[in-house]
Amino acid sequence: MTAAAGVALGLAAVPLARAQQAAGYAGSQECTTACHEQEAARFLRTPMGRVFLEGPRSDLERQGCEACHGPGKAHVESGGEDMTGMIRFARNSTTPADERNRVCIQCHEKTARLYWQASPHEASEVACSDCHNVMTNVSERANLQKPTVMATCTQCHLQRQSQQMRSSRMPLWEQKMQCSSCHNPHGSPNEKLLVASSVNETCYNCHTEKRGPFLWEHPPVVESCSNCHEPHGSTKEKMLKLPKPRLCQQCHDPTRHPTRSLGPADTKYVMGRQCANCHTMIHGSNHPSGFAFTR
Ligand code: HEC
Ligand code: HEC
Ligand code: HEC
Ligand code: HEC
Ligand code: HEC
Ligand code: HEC
Ligand code: HEC
Ligand code: HEC
Ligand code: HEC
Repeated sequence: MTAAAGVALGLAAVPLARAQQAAGYAGSQECTTACHEQEAARFLRTPMGRVFLEGPRSDLERQGCEACHGPGKAHVESGGEDMTGMIRFARNSTTPADERNRVCIQCHEKTARLYWQASPHEASEVACSDCHNVMTNVSERANLQKPTVMATCTQCHLQRQSQQMRSSRMPLWEQKMQCSSCHNPHGSPNEKLLVASSVNETCYNCHTEKRGPFLWEHPPVVESCSNCHEPHGSTKEKMLKLPKPRLCQQCHDPTRHPTRSLGPADTKYVMGRQCANCHTMIHGSNHPSGFAFTR
């Protein structure tokens, strides 16, 4: 069975409510048989297309194409010329983002999108359809605009893409994690759209061994992982913000390093050797004499 035949079959099984016809709706069958057969065939293969065109469970879903694009009777009768009142989602559309988003929110406000209203994306007039292409399956899941989450985000966040090109980074290209492992693009009660209540809580989701509590805590670690790490990737090893030992010397004066019990030359601690070679437990230590994170 071809997809187009599927559309026809699906629609035949779904009579349009009378009230809707009266309110300027044409019915999906008009859209698909008149001009948009191809769009309909592709839409039918998406999670929403299947529900809207083949198994609608509510009056809104039963409106099919018009559930999103608005009543299309005048559009059909004008042979496609008249676009008055129709909702268009393309990037350069004249329909305001807010109006486009209201269409989607009707059915999708729950769960992940509880914090959509007044979120940084909503407030910047980003549209659901900037990240989601719902007419056709481009991504494996979640009907994204691009094949991957990262490619979807970096349409706008170019700097984050270039950071992910750096030598030291987490496995986003490998699809082992996503921008959405740390950010909820739909909004969040936390700063920077983070999925957890702080930077550290976000990191602990995967790096649980860094959580502690430790007998000997290193204050900058407890405060924020991003005191030392650039979470989006860095040219320094281990995604550090600065090369060692400069990283440590932002806060620690190398000339005051305790030397009496360790040997003569102060330079030993800075030249050619890296602080973390000796201070291996830099994230915190549970050893009784681990006060200097050397064990
Ligand atoms: C769930 C909401 C939704 C439904 C239902 C829906 N569309 Fe769309 N449609 C969209 C979005 C979003 C876009 C923008 C696509 C993109 O990202 O480029 C779009 C784009 C289009 C376009 C491109 C024209 C333009 O404005 O740029 C056509 C034509 C179209 N849809 C026809 C249809 C037809 C025909 C149906 C029914 C078979 C349908 N749509 C059902 C949301 C929907
Ligand atoms: C800035 C990009 C972006 C915007 C804007 C956006 N989304 Fe998403 N959405 C995503 C990504 C990325 C995923 C996949 C998340 C994941 O990894 O699970 C997703 C997943 C979803 C899902 C499927 C999984 C789930 O959470 O239920 C739905 C439904 C959804 N979005 C609806 C919406 C609606 C409705 C809007 C507008 C109010 C919207 N999205 C705006 C990026 C976005
Ligand atoms: C009439 C209700 C309705 C409207 C309006 C609607 N959706 Fe959906 N959406 C659904 C249903 C039903 C599904 C099928 C999956 C399911 O059962 O949850 C779905 C699924 C999705 C998915 C997930 C696909 C997946 O892979 O899991 C995304 C993303 C999505 N919708 C985005 C949007 C966007 C963006 C808009 C606005 C352009 C929109 N929806 C408008 C009801 C709706
Ligand atoms: C259509 C363009 C666009 C896309 C696509 C997009 N964003 Fe954004 N994003 C913005 C704008 C605009 C802002 C607000 C201004 C700014 O901070 O740059 C923003 C802000 C953010 C912020 C900062 C929030 C804050 O509190 O300062 C994060 C984090 C973010 N986006 C993550 C993502 C992720 C993750 C994705 C992909 C799922 C994504 N964005 C996709 C446009 C976009
Ligand atoms: C490992 C977790 C993690 C991943 C993965 C991640 N981010 Fe972030 N992102 C953060 C943290 C943490 C911040 C808060 C700023 C900071 O502490 O450096 C942030 C901040 C941001 C900001 C706001 C920057 C600012 O200065 O206001 C944007 C935009 C952003 N991320 C986009 C993205 C995009 C796009 C991706 C995918 C390419 C992504 N992030 C992947 C953790 C992550
Ligand atoms: C979704 C899971 C996940 C989250 C959340 C996460 N990471 Fe990672 N991280 C990984 C994986 C996977 C690796 C690669 C591990 C490997 O290759 O052995 C990694 C590697 C690292 C590395 C070592 C990089 C290198 O060059 O070897 C650092 C540093 C790091 N993460 C810091 C952070 C920080 C800081 C945060 C919070 C902003 C964070 N991670 C959040 C999964 C995560
Ligand atoms: C005071 C600076 C500093 C802070 C803050 C910091 N780190 Fe690190 N981190 C380092 C250094 C230095 C290395 C490299 C150690 C090495 O080369 O032996 C490292 C390495 C790592 C690694 C890779 C090697 C390993 O130990 O698994 C991960 C993962 C990591 N850090 C996660 C985190 C997380 C998560 C946080 C927040 C809880 C954090 N770091 C906070 C300095 C810091
Ligand atoms: C953002 C500032 C900051 C950075 C960066 C930083 N530290 Fe610290 N470190 C501190 C603070 C604050 C203390 C607690 C000092 C105190 O209580 O007097 C501390 C404590 C220590 C101690 C325990 C001894 C003591 O004085 O309590 C050692 C050892 C140490 N840091 C080594 C390092 C090394 C090695 C690095 C680089 C990988 C580093 N630190 C990076 C702020 C920092
Ligand atoms: C050759 C190994 C070695 C190197 C390299 C090294 N340290 Fe140490 N550091 C130690 C030892 C061992 C101690 C504990 C001294 C003690 O037992 O009194 C110590 C103690 C410290 C203390 C705690 C001082 C105190 O007693 O309050 C700080 C802070 C510190 N180191 C920072 C650094 C920094 C920053 C670097 C890099 C510039 C560095 N160390 C390089 C071995 C080293």
